Amino acid sequence: MPKLMWPVVIGVVCAVVTWVVSGMLHFPRVFQWMFMCYVALGTGVFLLLAAPNLPSFRGGKAIVGLVVFYLVTSGVFLAGGAILPQYDPTVEQEKINKILKHRRAQFERPHNTEELRKKAEVLSAKANDLMGRVAKLQGAVVPVVASSTLTLSPVQRGEEVYQLYECYNCHKIGGKGGTKKRGPELGNLGNILTQNQIITKVTSTKRDPYFYAEGFEKEHKKGLMPDKYRELMTDEELETLAAYLMTLKNPAFKTPKPIFLKDEVQHGFMVYGYVRDANGQPVPNMKVAARPAKDGSHATLATTNQAGYYEAFMHLHNADDETTIVVSAGDKMKEFTATFDPSDKTTKRQAAMDFTL
Ligand code: HEC
Repeated sequence: MPKLMWPVVIGVVCAVVTWVVSGMLHFPRVFQWMFMCYVALGTGVFLLLAAPNLPSFRGGKAIVGLVVFYLVTSGVFLAGGAILPQYDPTVEQEKINKILKHRRAQFERPHNTEELRKKAEVLSAKANDLMGRVAKLQGAVVPVVASSTLTLSPVQRGEEVYQLYECYNCHKIGGKGGTKKRGPELGNLGNILTQNQIITKVTSTKRDPYFYAEGFEKEHKKGLMPDKYRELMTDEELETLAAYLMTLKNPAFKTPKPIFLKDEVQHGFMVYGYVRDANGQPVPNMKVAARPAKDGSHATLATTNQAGYYEAFMHLHNADDETTIVVSAGDKMKEFTATFDPSDKTTKRQAAMDFTL
């Protein structure tokens, strides 16, 4: 029987090593069990190979044997599929729907939103006041009426945004979430950064970096934190997300300090602004070109997002102070002179340039 013993011994060793290593790599429990299944499967195959040959079947017996083998293996696979959790596309679909729901709500809102929102706020303040008085009369606690048309509070909504954009793939909050240690723990972020700094960090890009988390210089150089959020997220999403992250203030968790990147300032100049049509509506997907008006210079191309907003980052050097910049969107063209103080290494070099087509 030693022939059958070796596959078992090797299988057990493989199982222990796989369990320990996958645990150290922060794989979730269910993945660890799945790896165990693979090890068991492999061990089974080697056991079969090492097992003594079965007597050969002929005729009807052979057919029955084949059918039984087929049923047993199918049964094992079906049972495995039923027991192990499966990738569920409806979960992803629901996330996408939630993101789109807020976008649609923003587009479908009437144009004088500001006015309506103020009216709603005044009304809901009055309602709260009345409810409070009623409550006093009754001596009971009455729930406060939400002033927003959406049912979540900004912080709850921010938590939802965090989940929808799957920041947990790389970050932990209070030691939870984040299957791999790719990014910093965020559990104490509210004590480390301001709301605006969080928004700028999330919307910073490889060409226009802002800071990196202390101890994560290598990850930052590799560009691990995605720089797609500037394009993907709406202002509402960014603001509520940052409001939620600001509530994380537990000093027990070691959220790293920011190391600001000031040197980048020297190498570029940012032109940004909105492109709107004659009715004041944002023009999305519009190409905007920014070019220094001197020989041999290249145009930097940018595209407006859903809000009609664009940012074009041009490579200008200290010697390019007072260069004329030509910016064009559609058939409109504008010029301005880029001025900056070459000795100032901290102030961002930028200019706003809006277009009405
Ligand atoms: C693919 C991995 C990944 C994803 C997804 C990701 N991040 Fe990050 N994040 C990182 C890494 C790595 C760093 C550290 C390097 C750096 O600062 O650029 C970081 C840094 C940060 C920091 C700075 C933390 C500090 O202590 O200074 C914040 C804030 C942050 N991320 C927020 C977010 C938010 C919010 C999301 C979701 C919208 C997100 N991240 C998605 C990898 C990721």
